[in-house]
Formats: sequence, structure tokens, C-alpha cells
Amino acid sequence: MTKIQKIPNLRKKLINWYQREQRPLPWRLKVTLYRTVVSEFMLQQTQIKTMLPYYERWLCSFPNFEALAHAPSDAVLKHWEGLGYYSRARNLQRLAQIYTQLPVKPTNAASWQQLPGIGPYTAAAISSIIYNQAIAVVDGNVVRILTRLVNDQKQYPNSSAAVKACSEQAQDLLDPTNPGDHNQAMMELGATICTKHNPKCHQCPLAPHCQAKNQAPETIPKIVRKKTIHECVDRLWIQNSEALLLYRIPLDANQLVGQFELPAAEHFPQAAKTDQLLASYKRSITHRRITENIFVGKTDKISEKLKIDDNLRWVDWEKLHKLTLSGPHRRWVKALIKLSKNQSPQAEQDRS
Ligand code: ADE
Repeated sequence: MTKIQKIPNLRKKLINWYQREQRPLPWRLKVTLYRTVVSEFMLQQTQIKTMLPYYERWLCSFPNFEALAHAPSDAVLKHWEGLGYYSRARNLQRLAQIYTQLPVKPTNAASWQQLPGIGPYTAAAISSIIYNQAIAVVDGNVVRILTRLVNDQKQYPNSSAAVKACSEQAQDLLDPTNPGDHNQAMMELGATICTKHNPKCHQCPLAPHCQAKNQAPETIPKIVRKKTIHECVDRLWIQNSEALLLYRIPLDANQLVGQFELPAAEHFPQAAKTDQLLASYKRSITHRRITENIFVGKTDKISEKLKIDDNLRWVDWEKLHKLTLSGPHRRWVKALIKLSKNQSPQAEQDRS
């Protein structure tokens, strides 16, 4: 990659812009280690506007590492409900449990990276913001800024290859006298100005240095996209007057362990599924496009099945709100309760 020129000049413009324009985010207004760690965990794979209400609720319920370490794990998971990627919540609690027990606390990126849920990006963010360590963060936002600055036309096979290719440049650009603000300025610029689509080049403090500015910056970086895969899942809505039947994701699953969802048809013998389609929802998980069809299920044969499968549970209607359901399942259940109250026979179409 071509080297960025006039680095001291560029750093100064970036920091001045950040000091003027940064959004007043709660972890910036009052900076503590705990508040920074929680914000960085929530911001992994989640946008600021989505995580802000979660952040406030989290800090009220778990105000410090001690409180989080001793909280019941289902309360921790419940506070994360709807944010997705739930291993983050479990890792954050494990981190609190380990951190509070450590006789010598970690104060640099390498030792933070030994803790659960901390990768190179989060370790660099925490150690630069809290310990003033001169180590650059590199993620999609930073890659976008750096590749656009030099009008990099190279094709990267995936985003981690692009991150790797930009690491040295990010470190060269880092302001060693103020690494925390420099890193947050890069995050801020990528999130608000140097965006994927429709970058606001006319407002960008780095525009005088940017070689992609008038050359279709939105086409950079060039990263080969994974092919879209289309999938279809049939699920069952099985209710009686007292309860709804839900599936609890088992301990040996790769993700969402312990959460509840509408059971997939494969969790039952064929007989349980009827032809009555209640709703059809579409969702995307990275490059997968999933259609979820929810059919009315028959209730006979179910008690037989329940005896052999501990993960199928009747959940009383009034206890439903206490369980953790993933974001889409919570929305679907809410919509289908409404639908079943109205007894509308029409299938519902929705995009979630
Ligand atoms: N993304 C990850 N960490 C961030 C931070 N501290 N500020 C803004 N966006 C972020």
C-alpha cells in the first residue's frame, strides 16, 4: 500500500476535528475502565444508536466489575436480549469475574488480550483510551479511511486481509502523544463522515490529503464479498390456553446457548407440523438470507416428545417476558401473540 504523506499535519487536523465534532457519548463524558470496557464489548458488531439504551440499562444494573462478576448469569443475558452475539455478554461477565480476582491488573494491550472476549481491536481501544498506550485500532472504519486516503485499488479476499494490510499504516499514523483520542477520532470519522455509502467528503477534515475524494471513494476498499446463500427454516407455533411451546438452545450448540426460540420443525416428529402458515419472516445473518416460515403445530404427540427432550418446554404466557429470546424470536412471538388474539387466518408477511 502507498505510504500516507504529511502525517503530523494529518494527525493534527484529525484531532482538532474530533475535539470539535465528537458526539457526546456516555463513555466519553465520564471515562473509567469499566465504562470503556462495556462500551467496547457492546460496540463489537453493533452500531452506537442500537447499543446506547442497552448501555445505560447495563450500567444501572451492573455499575462496576464487582457487581457484574456476582450477578446471576440469566440476568446478564436478559440485559443483552436483542443485541445479538450473546457470547459477548457471557465473555464480559467472565472477564469481570477474572479481573476482580487478579492480584496484578493488566495495563497493556498484550495482557488485556489474555482476557475473555478481547481481540486485538478491543485490547488496543482499551489500552490506548485508559492507559495511553500507543497502539492503533484497526477495523472496518479504519481500513476505509486509510485505503481511501491513498486511493488503494487493490482487491482484498476478505476483510481480515484488508485489516492486516492496513495495520502498519494505522500504527504509523497514530499520534503517540494522544493515542486514545486519535483512535476514537478514527472510529468517529469512519462512523460519521468516511462512511461506506455516500461519504461526506465536503465535511471531512482529511479531504485535502485524500486521493480518493473525487475518484468514487465509495468503491474503496475493494473487498471480495462472500456469495449470498439462501436458506429456509420451518418453525412451529404450538400453544394452548396456558402456555407456548419453546425450544431451549442446548449447551453443546455453537451459539445462543440457553436462549429460547420457536422450535424448528426438525425438533418434532413430522406429525406436529400442519399446512397452516401463520407468518413468513426474512432475515439476514452476514451473507445468509434466511426465510423463516412459521406454521401452526398440532399439540397431540407433543407430551410424548417432551418426555424425551429436555430442551422443549411449555412456557406459561405470563412467564414469557422473563426468558431470554433472541431479537427476531422476541419480535415474532410478540407479533404472533397479537395475531392469535385477533384470530386472523391470513399469513403475515414481514421483514425483520
Ligand atoms: N466503535 C468501537 N469503539 C468505539 C468508540 N469508543 N467510539 C465510537 N465508536 C466505537
